[in-house]
Amino acid sequence: MVKKPNILLTGTPGVGKTTLGKELAQRTGLVYVNVGDLAQEGQLYDGYDDEYKCPILDEDRVVDELEDKMTEGGVIVDYHGCDFFPQRWFDIVFVLRTDNTQLYTRLESRGYTGKKLEHNLQCEIFQMIYEEAMDAYSHEIVHMLWSNTPEDLERNLEQIVLWTEQWAKDHN
Ligand SMILES: Nc1ncnc2c1ncn2[C@@H]1O[C@H](COP(=O)(O)OP(=O)(O)OP(=O)(O)O)[C@@H](O)[C@H]1O
Ligand SMILES: [Mg+2]
Repeated sequence: MVKKPNILLTGTPGVGKTTLGKELAQRTGLVYVNVGDLAQEGQLYDGYDDEYKCPILDEDRVVDELEDKMTEGGVIVDYHGCDFFPQRWFDIVFVLRTDNTQLYTRLESRGYTGKKLEHNLQCEIFQMIYEEAMDAYSHEIVHMLWSNTPEDLERNLEQIVLWTEQWAKDHN
């Protein structure tokens, strides 16, 4: 069986994980999994966060749900958190980053306001997801990717496609 890598795309909401992940799946033939959608479809929740007005992810059930697929390989996982996935799942981790002015515009045009908007901007300013990824995965596989402009998006796509092709050559 042909071996394929597992890729994690993470970062603050609005940095462009889904835009990148879906297009990457098109170009590589890897399977795209949006953890937010998966949780919604399976109602993989464990309570509700009143402060941020969103359901709380049941992380254990998400991991159980994905385990077989991840063991098979060839999956692109998209989520705004990363410390609850088993470390062994991923061959590479990309933390997408966006300048604050741009992130503000993107989140505002999505209808985010008040505490939710502020919390997400703070999360990006303090590069919280990057820290989370560096704590959870071996440093050599964690990469920061800037995602401010359509040119950034295209360059990131091209780089990850090349990385995926090289990985396949090295492992098959
Ligand atoms: N590199 C980029 N340059 C300009 N705009 C971008 C870029 N990447 C994404 N966008 C735009 O930013 C918005 C947010 O992107 P997207 O939905 O992919 O983010 P996300 O990281 O998946 O967010 P969430 O975690 O909330 O799902 C979209 O309108 C998208 O078109
Ligand atoms: Mg998304």
